[in-house]
Amino acid sequence: MRTLIHVCLMMLAILASTLSAHAHGDGAPQPVDTTGLKPLGDDILPTNPYRGDAKAIEIGARGYNSNCARCHGLEAKSGGMSPDLRGLEPTDDNDGWFMTRVLMGATVGERVKMPPFQGLLSQEAIWAIRSYIDAQPD
Ligand code: HEC
Repeated sequence: MRTLIHVCLMMLAILASTLSAHAHGDGAPQPVDTTGLKPLGDDILPTNPYRGDAKAIEIGARGYNSNCARCHGLEAKSGGMSPDLRGLEPTDDNDGWFMTRVLMGATVGERVKMPPFQGLLSQEAIWAIRSYIDAQPD
């Protein structure tokens, strides 16, 4: 019984931290209009199909600024609190890692360090953001 209560409390704590990560006014995830990009369907691609595409970089800049910059820094230059995303070189392996991270977010113990974007950002939006970050000078 004790363990059961403990488990319930833990789940509540996780739920509460997830909710609070979403509740901050300016922190709420912003939809990204991806009109003009080739639609990619529902299956998540393993690598970035838009790498180097000017339109994707432009759309990604908006997506990045409204969803990621508050933690990862303006123009993708990290202030040190969160990883500098320019460190993930534009390779196929890193593309996969990037996509997984953005969809799942990052929870360390019970602390949500980065909220999951699954269901909030389309894969078009996420690959566009990746294209934008790749285009930023180191
Ligand atoms: C609430 C703050 C926050 C927001 C918002 C956020 N992140 Fe993060 N992100 C983090 C933190 C903190 C980490 C490091 C987590 C860890 O310790 O593993 C991280 C890790 C990552 C990583 C892994 C980096 C690496 O070098 O392995 C990627 C990729 C990433 N974030 C992309 C994004 C993108 C793209 C967005 C916007 C769509 C975003 N993040 C929004 C805080 C945030």
